[in-house]
Amino acid sequence: MPSLPKFLPSLLASVLLACAIPTLAADPGPNLRDDPGLAQPLPYKVAPCREGTIIECGIFTVPLDWHDPSAGNGSIVFARYPAASQGTRKGTVFLHTGVSSWFSSDRAPQIDLSRQAGALYKRLNGEYDLVMWTPRGRGTPGISVPGTLACFEDSFDKSVYYQEMAWRESEAPSDWDEETLAWTRRQTADDALIFHRVQQRAVIDCVENVQDLGQGDMLRYVGTAATVRDMVAMADAFDGPNAQIRFWGAQPGSLVGSYLQKLCPERIGRLVMDDPVDPVSYNAVPSYLTWQAAIAIANNSVAMLEESCASDKPADCSFPGGPPRPDMAFLALSVMLLRQDLMGWRNQYVVDLQNSRYHQFFDAVRKDKSVTQNWQTFEEHTKSLNRYPVHDLAALGLGEMPIVCGDALYEHTPDNETLRAAVEFALTESLHSVPLLMSSAFPSWRFLCHLWPIRAVERVSFSAPQEQKPVQETLVLLRKLDPWNYLRVSDTAARELWPGAHVFANLDFGPFMFNHNNCNLDLIASFLANGTVPEEPSPCENGDERRQQIRPARHKRTHKGALEL
Ligand SMILES: *[C@@H]1O[C@H](CO)[C@@H](O)[C@H](O)[C@H]1NC(C)=O
Ligand SMILES: *[C@@H]1O[C@H](CO)[C@@H](O)[C@H](O)[C@H]1NC(C)=O
Ligand SMILES: *[C@@H]1O[C@H](CO)[C@@H](O)[C@H](O)[C@H]1NC(C)=O
Ligand SMILES: *[C@@H]1O[C@H](CO)[C@@H](O)[C@H](O)[C@H]1NC(C)=O
Repeated sequence: MPSLPKFLPSLLASVLLACAIPTLAADPGPNLRDDPGLAQPLPYKVAPCREGTIIECGIFTVPLDWHDPSAGNGSIVFARYPAASQGTRKGTVFLHTGVSSWFSSDRAPQIDLSRQAGALYKRLNGEYDLVMWTPRGRGTPGISVPGTLACFEDSFDKSVYYQEMAWRESEAPSDWDEETLAWTRRQTADDALIFHRVQQRAVIDCVENVQDLGQGDMLRYVGTAATVRDMVAMADAFDGPNAQIRFWGAQPGSLVGSYLQKLCPERIGRLVMDDPVDPVSYNAVPSYLTWQAAIAIANNSVAMLEESCASDKPADCSFPGGPPRPDMAFLALSVMLLRQDLMGWRNQYVVDLQNSRYHQFFDAVRKDKSVTQNWQTFEEHTKSLNRYPVHDLAALGLGEMPIVCGDALYEHTPDNETLRAAVEFALTESLHSVPLLMSSAFPSWRFLCHLWPIRAVERVSFSAPQEQKPVQETLVLLRKLDPWNYLRVSDTAARELWPGAHVFANLDFGPFMFNHNNCNLDLIASFLANGTVPEEPSPCENGDERRQQIRPARHKRTHKGALEL
């Protein structure tokens, strides 16, 4: 591990920025949702997303730079599952699955909300608005401002660009399929080095292009600190100035909670850090090193899946809500999501078919043919691995690079030859190191921060010494296996990062995007509603068994003093 950057004084100044909005002095009370009640107009517009749905879609106006109003305004797209009635409404719960989920393409927040929020809503007796939003740097440009960075007009444009670049960087033909930009043979160390130069050029060309369009400045306003201030502003507008914030963040979404705790600890009502990412390695460790650690963790969690799936007790080898049997669909999805998230190139499935370690994995899991269904052959299974979308909006840009690399604490040093050599060494060293994920690996955009020239106007250091107020109202959930979260925190690190928090470790299998079982949902909902946590040290140890025992929840309300709105 490299040494962490020295404490940056400029970061401290921003940490001290107040999180209250001084201009809204009068307290409109928590229940006056969507009613200005004040001289100013509301900073947002909201309406049902479409006819017949109760879910509402809104646009929220924010300053592009929270420290400089003259930079102009941006807009945040949000969706809201409204409380059952204004009379019993107690406030808002903000939800975040990730940097719009590191895995998903740009999905509108109302889609995630309508699919996933119902179970939480019911457990909260419909007393809270549930709000999801598209973070800065994601979403349709022009509607979300700043939205997703696009580098190419369409997939054809992208394909032509890459073909030309490949010819420029190497005399040989590129050996990838023009349509899918997937490799047609197993990649070598030279391929990795050439592709690294291609990606470097692609970043430069993309940023130049954006600057020519007069949009270059926007990229500085992308970043998690600004995203957190946007959420705080929404809380002020929806629940009243300085309202306490309830937030549930899963996996990368937990970073919003970490930033909130660092920037505005006084605003925290209740924070659920669900399978959290380690915020220190998130922005302090050079991303190519984070990638090496991440692929090793992901690779090893697939190896654990293999072990579990091939064993006599395959409890961890299925979807959290699915049947507890070895499930090839689940395995293929896991590997597919990991590739989509971690890998910067693709293979044609013929290349995957030559991966003998992966074949062995398939055979181990399929040893008892009577209990597996879905794909009949390794070939079909392998084909399904490559079925993820190539040409979504994010794929025409640089993925999460503008967000994650904008948050990075180290500066961009394009002429540092030592760094370049270190990156190239890592690329060749890791190329064939994770056969369970991909026969040859190359980092996705967000792990190439040494190529990204822009940093966010506001950044936050988690390793910097700072007086940390113990956050009693934080629930930290750590899971014993999670193929989709890497550089997550250890039990010890969690207790240091969130002193005073309720930490439950060793929870059952890691869920994907709020797809929790009943035990986990009950745990989270009770905490959000009234701060109660189980007395037993290891709740939900076996989610499926516990599910049978759960009695229908009694809809009793307790009020716990000032934290209740
Ligand atoms: C930005 O939004 C604020 C609040 O909605 C508004 O008062 C201000 O005039 C806007 N500024 C610009 C440049 O549009
Ligand atoms: C990935 O997992 C395999 C287990 O099948 C192991 O042999 C290999 O060393 C792992 N790679 C890393 C980088 O840990
Ligand atoms: C260049 O990169 C190396 C390796 O990351 C680092 O140790 C060194 O401090 C960097 N030098 C400068 C001038 O940034
Ligand atoms: C806390 O809230 C949850 C969810 O609404 C509820 O099921 C539970 O009974 C409540 N606990 C107490 C002690 O009121």
